[in-house]
Amino acid sequence: MPEEIIKQLIKTANDMRQKAYAPYSNYRVGAAVLTADGSVIGGCNVESASYSLACCAERVALFRALSEGHQQFKALAVATRDGGSPCGACRQVIWELCGAIPVYIADETGLNRTATSTELLPDAFDKESLK
Ligand code: THU
Repeated sequence: MPEEIIKQLIKTANDMRQKAYAPYSNYRVGAAVLTADGSVIGGCNVESASYSLACCAERVALFRALSEGHQQFKALAVATRDGGSPCGACRQVIWELCGAIPVYIADETGLNRTATSTELLPDAFDKESLK
């Protein structure tokens, strides 16, 4: 992945943190997904007074991209204040919708580490499991 694209993804993910609705945890998360046609689509976490209804930034970004007609994804970035990893539910959804892609995990200062979606979710239960 070209360095410029990685930087753009991480910047969008970090910018999206400002849009987070996280009054309960105060843990602002932003994500950005790169689509096959080169678009970058962001998402932020959205919480609820009914805590378990929160939706993570990664899933908001992916569901937003999908609902705008994108079906193929090349990379995803997630940004938090401390370089936190995607949660288990998001790992499952990233694998479902993106397959094997690089995931750039960032903190406020930029890239913290890179993982593949396969490393994040080894031995996945997925569509192959239902054949
Ligand atoms: N969160 C995300 O947005 N993505 C993750 O992968 C981990 C957790 C959000 C959910 C909740 O709004 C806050 O972070 C604290 O758990």
